[in-house]
Amino acid sequence: MYTEDTLSGKTILITGGGSGLGLAMAKAFTRTGADIAICGRTEKKLQKAVKEIENEREEAVARYYQCDVRDYEGVTSMFEHIIKDFGSIEGLVNNAAGNFLSASEDLTPGGFKAIVDIVLHGSFNCTHVFGNYLIDNDKEGNILNMVTTYAEGTGCAFVLPSACGKAGVLAMTRSLAFEWAEYGIRLNAIAPGPFPTEGAWSRLVPEETMEKEFIGKIPLKRYGEPKELANLAVFLMSDLSSYMTGECVVIDGGERLQAGQFNFIDGLMPRSELKKMFKAMKPKK
Ligand code: HXC
Repeated sequence: MYTEDTLSGKTILITGGGSGLGLAMAKAFTRTGADIAICGRTEKKLQKAVKEIENEREEAVARYYQCDVRDYEGVTSMFEHIIKDFGSIEGLVNNAAGNFLSASEDLTPGGFKAIVDIVLHGSFNCTHVFGNYLIDNDKEGNILNMVTTYAEGTGCAFVLPSACGKAGVLAMTRSLAFEWAEYGIRLNAIAPGPFPTEGAWSRLVPEETMEKEFIGKIPLKRYGEPKELANLAVFLMSDLSSYMTGECVVIDGGERLQAGQFNFIDGLMPRSELKKMFKAMKPKK
């Protein structure tokens, strides 16, 4: 589906691009021709990631910027450096996130704030600085926001700050998709289901028993692979999706469909037994 030129001519910043899904997207963008900027808080991680990204393509261009997305001044200065280093920037992926499991009554204001600051304020900060750069320079651009399947509709127990932050990011995606269409700026979101990465799983899936439960509730009966998510991200960051804006694409192996009222029947007995039961219930002619 993609070629080495699918993203050529685009410089893309991936926040939290030093590891996990951010790094997987950075590599996929490189393979399809983009120049890459990544940012994060830990320099060592970023240095290693840049080397890995550069190994993906012969003439790959990748640079890192040490930056905490919670800090608006820091974000402003990072964009100034990126523009100086690359000449321009066409794409932003708001991927940096924070999350932990906690009973909501035990959260401290500081814990709630830490997550909402990274997820919502961090995404706003980067989007606001990048958006102003595009508008001031009469340039079109593309923003991709990583949300979650619980950002819309259900919310989620035990990860309240993340649920609130991600819901805000989704609202921002759709609000600005309308408002900034005028300037040729597209915004879309991806809602990933379970994609195990060290950063997320060490905080969210502490026990093996939980792992089994997790996979059990996914209709495709497996976790997602980073490259599957990265493929979708390439599409949304490329001109192949040029008529899409304000959309949130779910990629979760069908996990969100559990809410179907009779879906639970599938877990009661093997499918062959179920089919026998359905047949027995069919009225005789
Ligand atoms: C309760 C906690 C906590 C925990 C931190 N806090 N961890 N409270 N349970 N496990 C509280 C602290 O006590 C403190 O509150 C406040 O949060 C800030 O903590 P700090 O460590 O000082 O903050 P900071 O160094 O900024 O670290 C931020 C962090 C950390 C979010 C807490 O875990 C982090 O840097 N995470 C980044 C990576 C990450 O989380 N990745 C997973 C994303 S997964 P007080 O009251 O003392 O101030 C994701 C996907 C979701 O989002 C979808 C999955 C299916």
